[in-house]
Amino acid sequence: MSRTKSALLGALVLLAGASGTAVAAVPPDAAGIAAIPCTVDYKVQNQWDTGFTAAVTVTNNSAAKSSWAVKWAYAGNQKVTSGWNAKISQSGAAVTAANETYNGTLATGGSVSFGFNASYSGTNALPTSFTLDGVTCNVDDGSGGGGGGGGSDPSGRVDNPYAGAKVYVNPEWSAKAAAETGGSRISNQPTGVWLDRIAAINGASGSMGLRAHLDAALAQKGSGEEVVQLVVYDLPGRDCAALASNGELGPTEIDKYKTQFIDPIAAILADSKYASLRIVTTIEIDSLPNLVTNTGSRATATPQCDTMLANGNYVKGVGYALAKLGAIPNVYNYLDAGHHGWIGWDDNFAPSATLFKQAATSEGATVDDVAGFITNTANYSALKENNFTINDTVNGTSVRQSKWVDWNRYVDELSFAQGFRNQLVSVGFNSGIGMLIDTSRNGWGGTARPTGPGATTSVDTYVDGGRYDRRIHVGNWCNQAGAGLGERPQASPATGIDAYVWMKPPGESDGSSSAIANDEGKGFDRMCDPTYTGNPRNNNNMSGALPNAPLSGHWFSAQFQQLMTNAYPPL
Ligand code: BGC
Repeated sequence: MSRTKSALLGALVLLAGASGTAVAAVPPDAAGIAAIPCTVDYKVQNQWDTGFTAAVTVTNNSAAKSSWAVKWAYAGNQKVTSGWNAKISQSGAAVTAANETYNGTLATGGSVSFGFNASYSGTNALPTSFTLDGVTCNVDDGSGGGGGGGGSDPSGRVDNPYAGAKVYVNPEWSAKAAAETGGSRISNQPTGVWLDRIAAINGASGSMGLRAHLDAALAQKGSGEEVVQLVVYDLPGRDCAALASNGELGPTEIDKYKTQFIDPIAAILADSKYASLRIVTTIEIDSLPNLVTNTGSRATATPQCDTMLANGNYVKGVGYALAKLGAIPNVYNYLDAGHHGWIGWDDNFAPSATLFKQAATSEGATVDDVAGFITNTANYSALKENNFTINDTVNGTSVRQSKWVDWNRYVDELSFAQGFRNQLVSVGFNSGIGMLIDTSRNGWGGTARPTGPGATTSVDTYVDGGRYDRRIHVGNWCNQAGAGLGERPQASPATGIDAYVWMKPPGESDGSSSAIANDEGKGFDRMCDPTYTGNPRNNNNMSGALPNAPLSGHWFSAQFQQLMTNAYPPL
């Protein structure tokens, strides 16, 4: 979420000019700085002997556009080989990146991001000049980099921690992946490190503890920047609408959560030894959204969620975690925001943003403790459905009336994450927040992937025939049959998105298919049993789960193999 200081001031001056009332918002040192028509942030994210991957973010400070083209020239022999989120062409040293049909709109103050792979030999010198529709832009070569809006942070945090950084490869996950046939194709990908119980801080059952991971991350870091991705996951009465990941703390054990879980984690993260790492903490998967959707008079309510709403311990726990971890300057908190097939309905969308704001301003936390939000964690929602949009109709009937969409406002995760980001900003979160999307298991490739839209016989044939997401119901969440690996982890993939991440490590189970005794606090949820016929939260559909699954978090070879087979993009 980068803008250099000068670019941000440029935008403020423009605003002041337009409204005549915003002058007070302009810091004193802004006086006399002319508006900059556009800024370009060009970052080499990854480079090897013969090639590199680059991410480009363009911010438009002039009149709104419905199409755009960015141009630059290389001094060396760089050749673009493939691009995404822009149509990129090259003639000699001159490169043109023009909008795709879906991202031509560029508001005043808005940003758009695209990326590409290129070959080169010798020196990969950065281009020195860019134009947007023929007008010269300034070049943002600051340390930030990344997606949409935002400004500098008094703590010294960069706007998007992923921009220009490597991401920690968990050696334990990597070894399990590499031991699978074909697994070495992905075993060097970064995945999340789950702190899913108190014992995980020092290392549960012989596995690496938090310090061991951070030490390994320092070793991987070298002289560059390094992101470490942690999942902070041990709320009292955790995951109140499911059983597979209920966790070790009872509904009232908020003090234990604070003093035996969050405080020790914070003490380790604050160690000056780790100050050079960019530590991404994803805060408490699944729990807050449950307070919105699974409480009160709703058919989906559970007594456990009603209890957690009434005792306030989810809100307090999240607020405490944000405040404690947010006080550490190199920690970037991303709060869990469910996914489109959960929060995307009108009844859930605005109330969720309001609840997140409440949690983020409790127990001493402020919105400045929130770097952004993560969606689709450990879920299966497709990133982008290309064969239909929410605005489509069939014979005059909206796709919103199809059984699959069922009046949701969103059909995929990218549109949801971008839309929800706007909602979060509108309730008071900082405009610089960025979204993460977990793409570990939402690829839906393989032979069952539709190659075009469904038949226009009815909204159901149209949606069901065209959708990539092959689940039986969008509420299904456990070890889904047919799923594949999604987009590989990458920084700044789209407007407002800080990164695509693999927060759920592919190959780790979501829950056991039958009851298994354990000392991890894990229950048996029949949503993980392939013979289960469902409950109100998946509208009484079959669970769609793979058979013979081990406990949540345990290695599930058959699932790992299926994810590779059905990867999209393919491996
Ligand atoms: C489990 C955790 C595990 C995580 C990542 C969750 O469903 O409850 O124990 O670490 O998944 O696989």
